[in-house]
Amino acid sequence: MPVEKIKVAVIGGGLVGLSTALCITESLPQCTITVISEEFSPNTTSDVAAGCLIPHSYPDTSLDQQKSWFKETFDYLFKIANSSEAGEAGIHLISGWQIFKSAPKETYPFWWQTVLGFRMMNKAELAKFPSYTFGQAFTTLKCQASQYLPWMEKKIKSNGGYLERRKINNVWDLHGIYDVVVNCSGLGSRHLFGDHSIYPVKGQVLEVNAPWIKHFIRDGDGNTYIYPGISCVTLGGTRQNGVWSNLPNEQASKGILDRCCHLEPSLCEVSVIQEKVGLRPTRSALRIEKDILIKNGKQLTVVHNYGHGGGGYSIHWGTARKVSKLLQEVIPLPHNVYTKSKL
Ligand SMILES: Cc1cc2nc3c(=O)[nH]c(=O)nc-3n(C[C@H](O)[C@H](O)[C@H](O)COP(=O)(O)OP(=O)(O)OC[C@H]3O[C@@H](n4cnc5c(N)ncnc54)[C@H](O)[C@@H]3O)c2cc1C
Ligand SMILES: *[C@@H]1O[C@H](CO)[C@@H](O)[C@H](O)[C@H]1NC(C)=O
Ligand SMILES: *[C@@H]1O[C@H](CO)[C@@H](O)[C@H](O)[C@H]1NC(C)=O
Ligand SMILES: *[C@@H]1O[C@H](CO)[C@@H](O)[C@H](O)[C@H]1NC(C)=O
Repeated sequence: MPVEKIKVAVIGGGLVGLSTALCITESLPQCTITVISEEFSPNTTSDVAAGCLIPHSYPDTSLDQQKSWFKETFDYLFKIANSSEAGEAGIHLISGWQIFKSAPKETYPFWWQTVLGFRMMNKAELAKFPSYTFGQAFTTLKCQASQYLPWMEKKIKSNGGYLERRKINNVWDLHGIYDVVVNCSGLGSRHLFGDHSIYPVKGQVLEVNAPWIKHFIRDGDGNTYIYPGISCVTLGGTRQNGVWSNLPNEQASKGILDRCCHLEPSLCEVSVIQEKVGLRPTRSALRIEKDILIKNGKQLTVVHNYGHGGGGYSIHWGTARKVSKLLQEVIPLPHNVYTKSKL
């Protein structure tokens, strides 16, 4: 007799929702997954990101936790980068430099043992950047969003999951249809769940045509970066706390070009393919936890996964696995499923 499956709705079809849904389809075959999202690739914040694996820090999430999420994500993507799927998934190794005007407090960041070949830059390398006195050289990974997000969608579907494009205005609309709701709605959480501790940090980037650039350069202050990708080079960036507009700003583009051209003179006359803006779903701590909502005697189990801010790509697989584990704790045991299906 077929056992009735546990119905799980994942709200959000950006990086976090898709990776969480994929991880669940791979680790919890007793569930059927439906990803419900107002927007899918290419229309999410996750599509704007350069997708480079360099951790961002979350002041109110434990460092050990951030460290292990980064490592899980790096190891998982390194395997894909080392497989026949790398090209389609858009995941590749990338080497480069993070440079500082003056040496940071921690010359070895918490993630130095996870990236490959981490070392301090030498004098000859630093000679390229006269106003910088210190730098780190390493190899990391990069996800090309325009390939990685559709690749995950395809894998979710081939694992038996569904994608549905619509907006959820009230999470209670899902009650009775789904057994558990996983909340990966990013900034959408603010309205959907009334969480006012999540806010946007507006970021603007430029995609330029500069196929000779093969090496990344990032200013350690996080404001200026040059990340070569598969079909273009991403130049950044900006950070504007609390700004909701997702319109590109001409002044910001000029600032990005000036700063990047200062680090890499060959970019001074480059042609801009596209200006892109995204609102980073920011929170002082990530929110990854179980939550039981109760209203008029009805109960709805929610597992939250949001607040990835400026570093979602760097930790998404670690957080997806954490959600799969939490989900396993809230779903009925196989025995109960069997009983339920007999009734
Ligand atoms: C300019 C820029 C550069 C970046 N560069 C990097 C980088 O190099 N490396 C890195 O690690 N990170 C980077 N990031 C951060 C990264 O992009 C984010 O952490 C990540 O995209 C967050 O993913 P998400 O799935 O939570 O959010 P989103 O991509 O915003 O997805 C949320 C989804 O939820 C849906 N949704 C919301 N509310 C509802 C609702 N009520 N009903 C239905 N659906 C709903 C939305 O439609 C959307 O599909 C960058 C971000 C920006 C803006
Ligand atoms: C993305 O947005 C465009 C413009 O609004 C729309 O035509 C397209 O269907 C959207 N794509 C997806 C996959 O939702
Ligand atoms: C990389 O691929 C080779 C060949 O398939 C394999 O032997 C090796 O274990 C892989 N390494 C990693 C880190 O995935
Ligand atoms: C879903 O997450 C958002 C943050 O992305 C939060 O504001 C919201 O309260 C959550 N929704 C529910 C139903 O808990």
